[in-house]
Amino acid sequence: MQVDLRSSWWIRDVEIPTRLVLAPMAGVSVQAFRRQGRRYGAGLVCSEMVSCAGLQHGNERTLGYLRISPDERPLAVQIFGSDPGVMAEAARMVEDAGADLVDINFGCPVKKVTKTGAGATMLEDHARACAVVSAVARAVSVPVSVKMRRGLANGSRACLELGPRLVEAGAASLTLHPRSAKQMYTGEADHSLTTELVELVDVPVIASGDVTSRARAQAILATTGAAAVMVGRAAQGNPWALREIIDGDGTAPTREEVVAELLLFVRETVRELGEHRGTGFVKKFYGWYLGHGRFPKALKQELVQLPTIADVEQRLLDVAPGAAAVLERLEHKAAVEEEVELPLAISAYGGG
Ligand SMILES: Cc1cc2nc3c(=O)[nH]c(=O)nc-3n(C[C@H](O)[C@H](O)[C@H](O)COP(=O)(O)O)c2cc1C
Repeated sequence: MQVDLRSSWWIRDVEIPTRLVLAPMAGVSVQAFRRQGRRYGAGLVCSEMVSCAGLQHGNERTLGYLRISPDERPLAVQIFGSDPGVMAEAARMVEDAGADLVDINFGCPVKKVTKTGAGATMLEDHARACAVVSAVARAVSVPVSVKMRRGLANGSRACLELGPRLVEAGAASLTLHPRSAKQMYTGEADHSLTTELVELVDVPVIASGDVTSRARAQAILATTGAAAVMVGRAAQGNPWALREIIDGDGTAPTREEVVAELLLFVRETVRELGEHRGTGFVKKFYGWYLGHGRFPKALKQELVQLPTIADVEQRLLDVAPGAAAVLERLEHKAAVEEEVELPLAISAYGGG
């Protein structure tokens, strides 16, 4: 049975207009990425994982992750941590900032996170994982979702035991990336586990891992019974992959479209993170956008060496002069809506 990717679904009372979810990715999921994802068909977008300890301590950079623009909603803000009380407090801040969902990270395999008992470590500490979900669900009125991997060790099926318990504790939706933490991003996501999880719980399940095309998205939705698919790496510097998945429109973007999207991304990100941090942050995106055989490799090498964003903009407009008009149209459409007000001045959040 073919699932209509453009049909709505709900996480409790939050309506999600399409079956395509943009993955949370640390170092990638800035506001410009999320907004772009919404424009190209994602029905739900997620912030990268935010440290609950950072929020608790009022860390400026961490608070910056709570800047939400109305045109990216519905939006999930993801938090990580291992202390139920601190996580509950962080969740309240996330709700106050205007997020539609609070997502909890039980999947991060990175040592810096797992050694604190957070992220994927929770897949082996079910009592604590349930205590965190229960504390967070009691603290906020928006729905709480959880993103997990299959388990810590290769072949682990921990997610199937933990998933139903998290739902009992208050999770309104589960996302499964069925790789082990040990696998990191190697091998393949085993979506037979997603099928099993869907059977076990009565909340929507989002399937994450290796969704790179419409054919793959349709196959995963049909075989697993998941409510939606999540797309991560395939969308890096490539919103056209989202368009292909949602509409089957696999037309390659023109050079002008590629450069215009990259320039819009750069401008918005520099505005969000500030010139200094933004300039470094966007560098990895050059290769992602300009690759796929769109431009010679040397261009990316050249761009990363340029000292200022103004130089980067100029060079990109030199190689695709027609991009200026496309960019103008994009900027006009994206005319920045007012951001949700935060209790501190924007400058205090270290961006913009
Ligand atoms: C660079 C990078 C950063 C990521 N950061 C996060 C994160 O902050 N939170 C999270 O839940 N998953 C994170 N993930 C995992 C993705 O959300 C997703 O589950 C995974 O990449 C598999 O999907 P894909 O095959 O579509 O990329 C990250 C993945 C990548 C590649």
